[in-house]
Amino acid sequence: MLRTLLVGLGRSGTGLHLPVLLRARRAEPGLFAAGPVVGVDPGRTPAAPDGLTVAAGLRDARRLLDPDRTVVHLCTPPTVRDGVLEEVAALGFRRLVVEKPLAADRAALRRVRATVDRHHLDVTVVAPWLHSALTDRLATLLGDGTLGAVRHIGVTQHKPRFRRSLTASSHTSAFEVEVPHAVGVLLRLLGDAHTEDASWSDVRLGDAVAPRLGTARLRLTHHTGGRSEVYSDLTSPVRRRRIVIDTDHARLTGDYPISEDDDVAQLLVEHRPGGGSTTVTRELLPDDALTRCLIRAYRHAAGRTAPDDAILPGGPGDLGLHIRTVELLDDARRLAAMARPHHPLTTDRKEVAGHAG
Ligand SMILES: NC(=O)c1ccc[n+]([C@@H]2O[C@H](COP(=O)([O-])OP(=O)(O)OC[C@H]3O[C@@H](n4cnc5c(N)ncnc54)[C@H](O)[C@@H]3O)[C@@H](O)[C@H]2O)c1
Repeated sequence: MLRTLLVGLGRSGTGLHLPVLLRARRAEPGLFAAGPVVGVDPGRTPAAPDGLTVAAGLRDARRLLDPDRTVVHLCTPPTVRDGVLEEVAALGFRRLVVEKPLAADRAALRRVRATVDRHHLDVTVVAPWLHSALTDRLATLLGDGTLGAVRHIGVTQHKPRFRRSLTASSHTSAFEVEVPHAVGVLLRLLGDAHTEDASWSDVRLGDAVAPRLGTARLRLTHHTGGRSEVYSDLTSPVRRRRIVIDTDHARLTGDYPISEDDDVAQLLVEHRPGGGSTTVTRELLPDDALTRCLIRAYRHAAGRTAPDDAILPGGPGDLGLHIRTVELLDDARRLAAMARPHHPLTTDRKEVAGHAG
């Protein structure tokens, strides 16, 4: 049975991982050892919420935990990912759950991969959209062939994020905030790709500016011939996590849950088989994807992976898809640095080119 070390006690560490872990421990008592979750964060001395013991540093945490029976969650900003990974590995921890993105850029990715190889680490990247019931349903619908070939996938990932972007330095561009989730799903649904073009913009409020944290847009061309586009506006007045898939005979519009407040995804299927009339169906899918992702990660760490989970691209212990995500986003950053910034007037009118909201 496994204990937990949470490294980074910010929004993702204490706001997302801790409550989900406490729920998962109740749901799967045989997987998790008794004893509190241990947390470390040199930048904060938070009042420890129920179920969390805060250690003074990683060495102190090591004294409280047996590395062979501990899963370490890295909930630190992407800019320090590689350094913290090396520190944790040097203390003997081998099983890790790492927040997305796996690395900030290609240079950091090389350091992450070197640490993983040198210390024989087993790493699961937190990628809830890959574990989502909506993504599974889309993969099934596209996989059975009745909807024809995929022509285009557009993803919009909008939310207002003025305050966090202007006050916290945890992200260097909007490509790190929501976009890694979408790119992982696009690679799963359409296969490998290259970045065709990309742009970004700053967020401004009065005199305050956070460079590159306003919007991020990128287009991918997949090696199978399909095309996809992601647009994330962090200055939007509305929250939206939508995927629109156009195939030869259908349009699928999927809405991922927009926050931890409600975990039901929605899917609208508009099907026009071979010139016939269009049928429209709506599906509602319970979709607590982060809980599913973490439970799968712990089953994997305990050597109890279910057969279906073992083949999930980008699932527990599989870094390939996440490495490609970092590489495609690194290319997007380089292309965006040369492109004209895209400043939306309002995002609620038009989302991804060709796909009115
Ligand atoms: N905020 C979200 O809703 C959210 C959701 C999903 C994923 N994420 C991802 O989680 C990661 C963290 O994001 P966040 O929003 O929690 O950031 P955050 O700034 O709220 O928290 C990060 C914490 O890490 C701590 N930290 C920095 N260096 C450290 C070190 N060397 N050792 C231990 N702690 C250290 C900081 O003091 C801070 O408290 C990012 O990669 C982000 O993309 C965030």
